[in-house]
Amino acid sequence: MDQQRDRKRILFVSYTAMLGGGELCLLDFAKAYRDSSEVLLLTDGVLKTRLESLGVRVNLLTSSKRSLAAVKASSGLASLKSIGELWRLGRQVAQKSKDFDLIHANNQKGFVVAAIARFLGGAPVVWHLHDILTADIFSPLNRRIAVTLANWCATRVMVNSQATADAFIAAGGNSRLLRTVHNGFDSEVFDRVKDNQAGLREELRIPRDRPLVGIFSRISYWKGQQVLLEAAMQLPNVHLLLVGDALFGEAEYAERLKNMAMQDSLKGRVHWLGFHEDIPALMKACDLIVHCSTAPEPFGRVVVEAQLAKRPAIATIGGGTSEIIEDRVTGLLIPANDPQLLAQAIQDILSDRDFANKLTAAAYEQAKTKFSISSVCAEFEMAIAGI
Ligand code: UDP
Ligand code: GLC
Repeated sequence: MDQQRDRKRILFVSYTAMLGGGELCLLDFAKAYRDSSEVLLLTDGVLKTRLESLGVRVNLLTSSKRSLAAVKASSGLASLKSIGELWRLGRQVAQKSKDFDLIHANNQKGFVVAAIARFLGGAPVVWHLHDILTADIFSPLNRRIAVTLANWCATRVMVNSQATADAFIAAGGNSRLLRTVHNGFDSEVFDRVKDNQAGLREELRIPRDRPLVGIFSRISYWKGQQVLLEAAMQLPNVHLLLVGDALFGEAEYAERLKNMAMQDSLKGRVHWLGFHEDIPALMKACDLIVHCSTAPEPFGRVVVEAQLAKRPAIATIGGGTSEIIEDRVTGLLIPANDPQLLAQAIQDILSDRDFANKLTAAAYEQAKTKFSISSVCAEFEMAIAGI
């Protein structure tokens, strides 16, 4: 982003400081506005150091973590217990926001605090909605609270895809508030990584002649890692690279996956790496990348990253992934929760190198232009124009 533009002064507010997709997305916008803006974190975590390393001003609002953590995405009425804590934070954010043109709330809990701040006389609020508000993941009460607050208090609602916008409207949200702001990526970071990652395969003791299929989602029930493990049971030559950790709880699911990986039909073929920051190199070590969420993915950063790494991507139909992949042109789309069809799609790609090359060439070009940092920063700027 250039310096000449009339910089808005933005108070970015984030409840979570773990490195999920929403927070990785925030890094780019906070960096673009770092000269005039500040990030306020409501919990401490690795996001703080990542922001600081980019030269972004960061402050941590101390809260009684336990009571705020009770406001879970689907916690319903239980969340009312912590209303006092939210109010206290809202008052502090309202006070702080007096030096800014707007508050950008990057997640739902952050948005509730920002809405209270607005009610108490704080700056206009922009809610950056990264989630599809459907019954699969959010309780009816939670959705009602979120859209009611948005309709009353938000000046704009940024959405990461049309699918996220549609779900917001279906839940009763005011469509006039919506602006689409996609996630952005620096393609050069991927271009700089050597294409041949043989060393990495050697380190993991994966024989050279065995195909390596990667999955890069955090460990969570709806990210569908179990579907890939089941598919791999039918593909005895294929090795799997599982990258990611259970960032928001769900350790029990991680345990279940580990047990699956120990079964005879998979033993020695599942390479579990946990959370890694060096995604481009790991992606380039793979022959193909699978994204198999069992619920519609709001955007799906890993799909664009696979495209930038020039690796063929197979993803679940629906949500943001259907807006990123055109089936059989820039990747393959398959129905959710179908290991049989996933195994078939993996086989189709692994057995036809020309087809795979065609997909990756078209996907790379699209990802590089449509999701460049400069184009999404332009979307962001348009979304806050006039506030
Ligand atoms: N990611 C990462 N390290 C990991 C696993 C994932 O940095 O070990 C990154 C991944 O590259 C992507 C993001 O986490 O940029 C996940 O975003 P996505 O939109 O795919 O899903 P989310 O987890 O946000 O729902
Ligand atoms: C959320 C969504 C994911 C999206 C990310 C960034 O984590 O689950 O699909 O890519 O936000 O917008």
